[in-house]
Amino acid sequence: MHSTSPSFQDDIIHRNQRRTENHSQRSLPSHPPSLSFSDNDYLGLSRHPSVRQSAVKAVQDFGTSASAARLLAGSSPIHRQLEKSLASWKSSEQALLFSAGYLTPLGVIPAIIGPQDTVILERNAHSCLFDGAKLSGARLRIFNRQDTKELQKVLTSTTQLHPSGKILLVVESLHSMDGDWAPLLEIIQLKIQFGAWLLLDEAHANGICGPAGAGLAAQLNCTHQIDIQMGTLGKTLGSSGGFVAASDFIINHLLNESRTFLFGTALSPASASAALASLEIVRSTEGDSLRQTLQQNIAQFTATYPSPLSGPIHFIACRENSTALTASTFLRNLGIDVPAIRFPTVPEGTARLRLSFSSRHTPKDIQNLTSALSILPISSS
Ligand SMILES: Cc1ncc(COP(=O)(O)O)c(C=O)c1O
Repeated sequence: MHSTSPSFQDDIIHRNQRRTENHSQRSLPSHPPSLSFSDNDYLGLSRHPSVRQSAVKAVQDFGTSASAARLLAGSSPIHRQLEKSLASWKSSEQALLFSAGYLTPLGVIPAIIGPQDTVILERNAHSCLFDGAKLSGARLRIFNRQDTKELQKVLTSTTQLHPSGKILLVVESLHSMDGDWAPLLEIIQLKIQFGAWLLLDEAHANGICGPAGAGLAAQLNCTHQIDIQMGTLGKTLGSSGGFVAASDFIINHLLNESRTFLFGTALSPASASAALASLEIVRSTEGDSLRQTLQQNIAQFTATYPSPLSGPIHFIACRENSTALTASTFLRNLGIDVPAIRFPTVPEGTARLRLSFSSRHTPKDIQNLTSALSILPISSS
């Protein structure tokens, strides 16, 4: 007979209770409101007719699943085509796909760095970057992403204490929760000075800035100084999956040693095909005009809610979990989906409403949002 260990049960019940008490318990919404400011579909491509069609065609041509890891039977021509297109978009020699954005750093970081090395991450880096760093067994150091003096100090002490270890710097170009841009050029100067490598996660910047939407590094013309460019297919590219773009020798190494690439079923052909169709749009004049609409929507919002943030991610600080929840529920009842972001997604005491804008929003949508925010039953800080 199967019995549940009482200690497991007690622990889980206790943790559920604690989450309920401190307003951090999550549940899946049953009917998400139709006006969403919560997804990352910044150019609305997940619903674009040619992206949908492309996914349908891939199902017809290749079936519903890759059915195996890439190095077994899981590689289709569409994977190779997408990798080629991503590599050229990112001005890189090669690209490699992963079946999720989250699984990308979990495979990449441990493949290039180990217990004798150091990973330097920004304080509030996305959890997949932290998890990849932890999996590598390397020592972790953190810095405030806007504070390059602090980064310099961390680099100095790391090289003094561990002169023979490698250093990997991991940075998000557009921060997923704070919406600010990394001071990339200063970071690159430091990484060169200290002989570190840089993994740049452009998950939220890809598609929305730079020539042909190629991201912040392309905008600043410093792609060639970034060792590993990372991205996801699940945000602007309207699909799901992740990728890295890098030199031949790095990609060939990852293909051999990146465990989340090696030991999981490959990205489905439909996802690869949808991302390929999105990428074509992102790189076209249609992509330019979608980016322009996105910027207009952001400008309409910031005309009412002035902000130093220029990207598609904005937030309204609530501090307390309960305040953020009350505000999110209030908006939901008005048919507007704006998530309450709480610990552990953001540090404790910094709960917020996170707003993400898209080119698919109309001026009326933005107006509905700002009107609803103006009557929120909370005082934001
Ligand atoms: C900065 C960053 N990197 C990576 C990921 C993971 O990507 P995906 O959601 O496509 O798995 C996310 C997801 O939100 C993210 O915000």
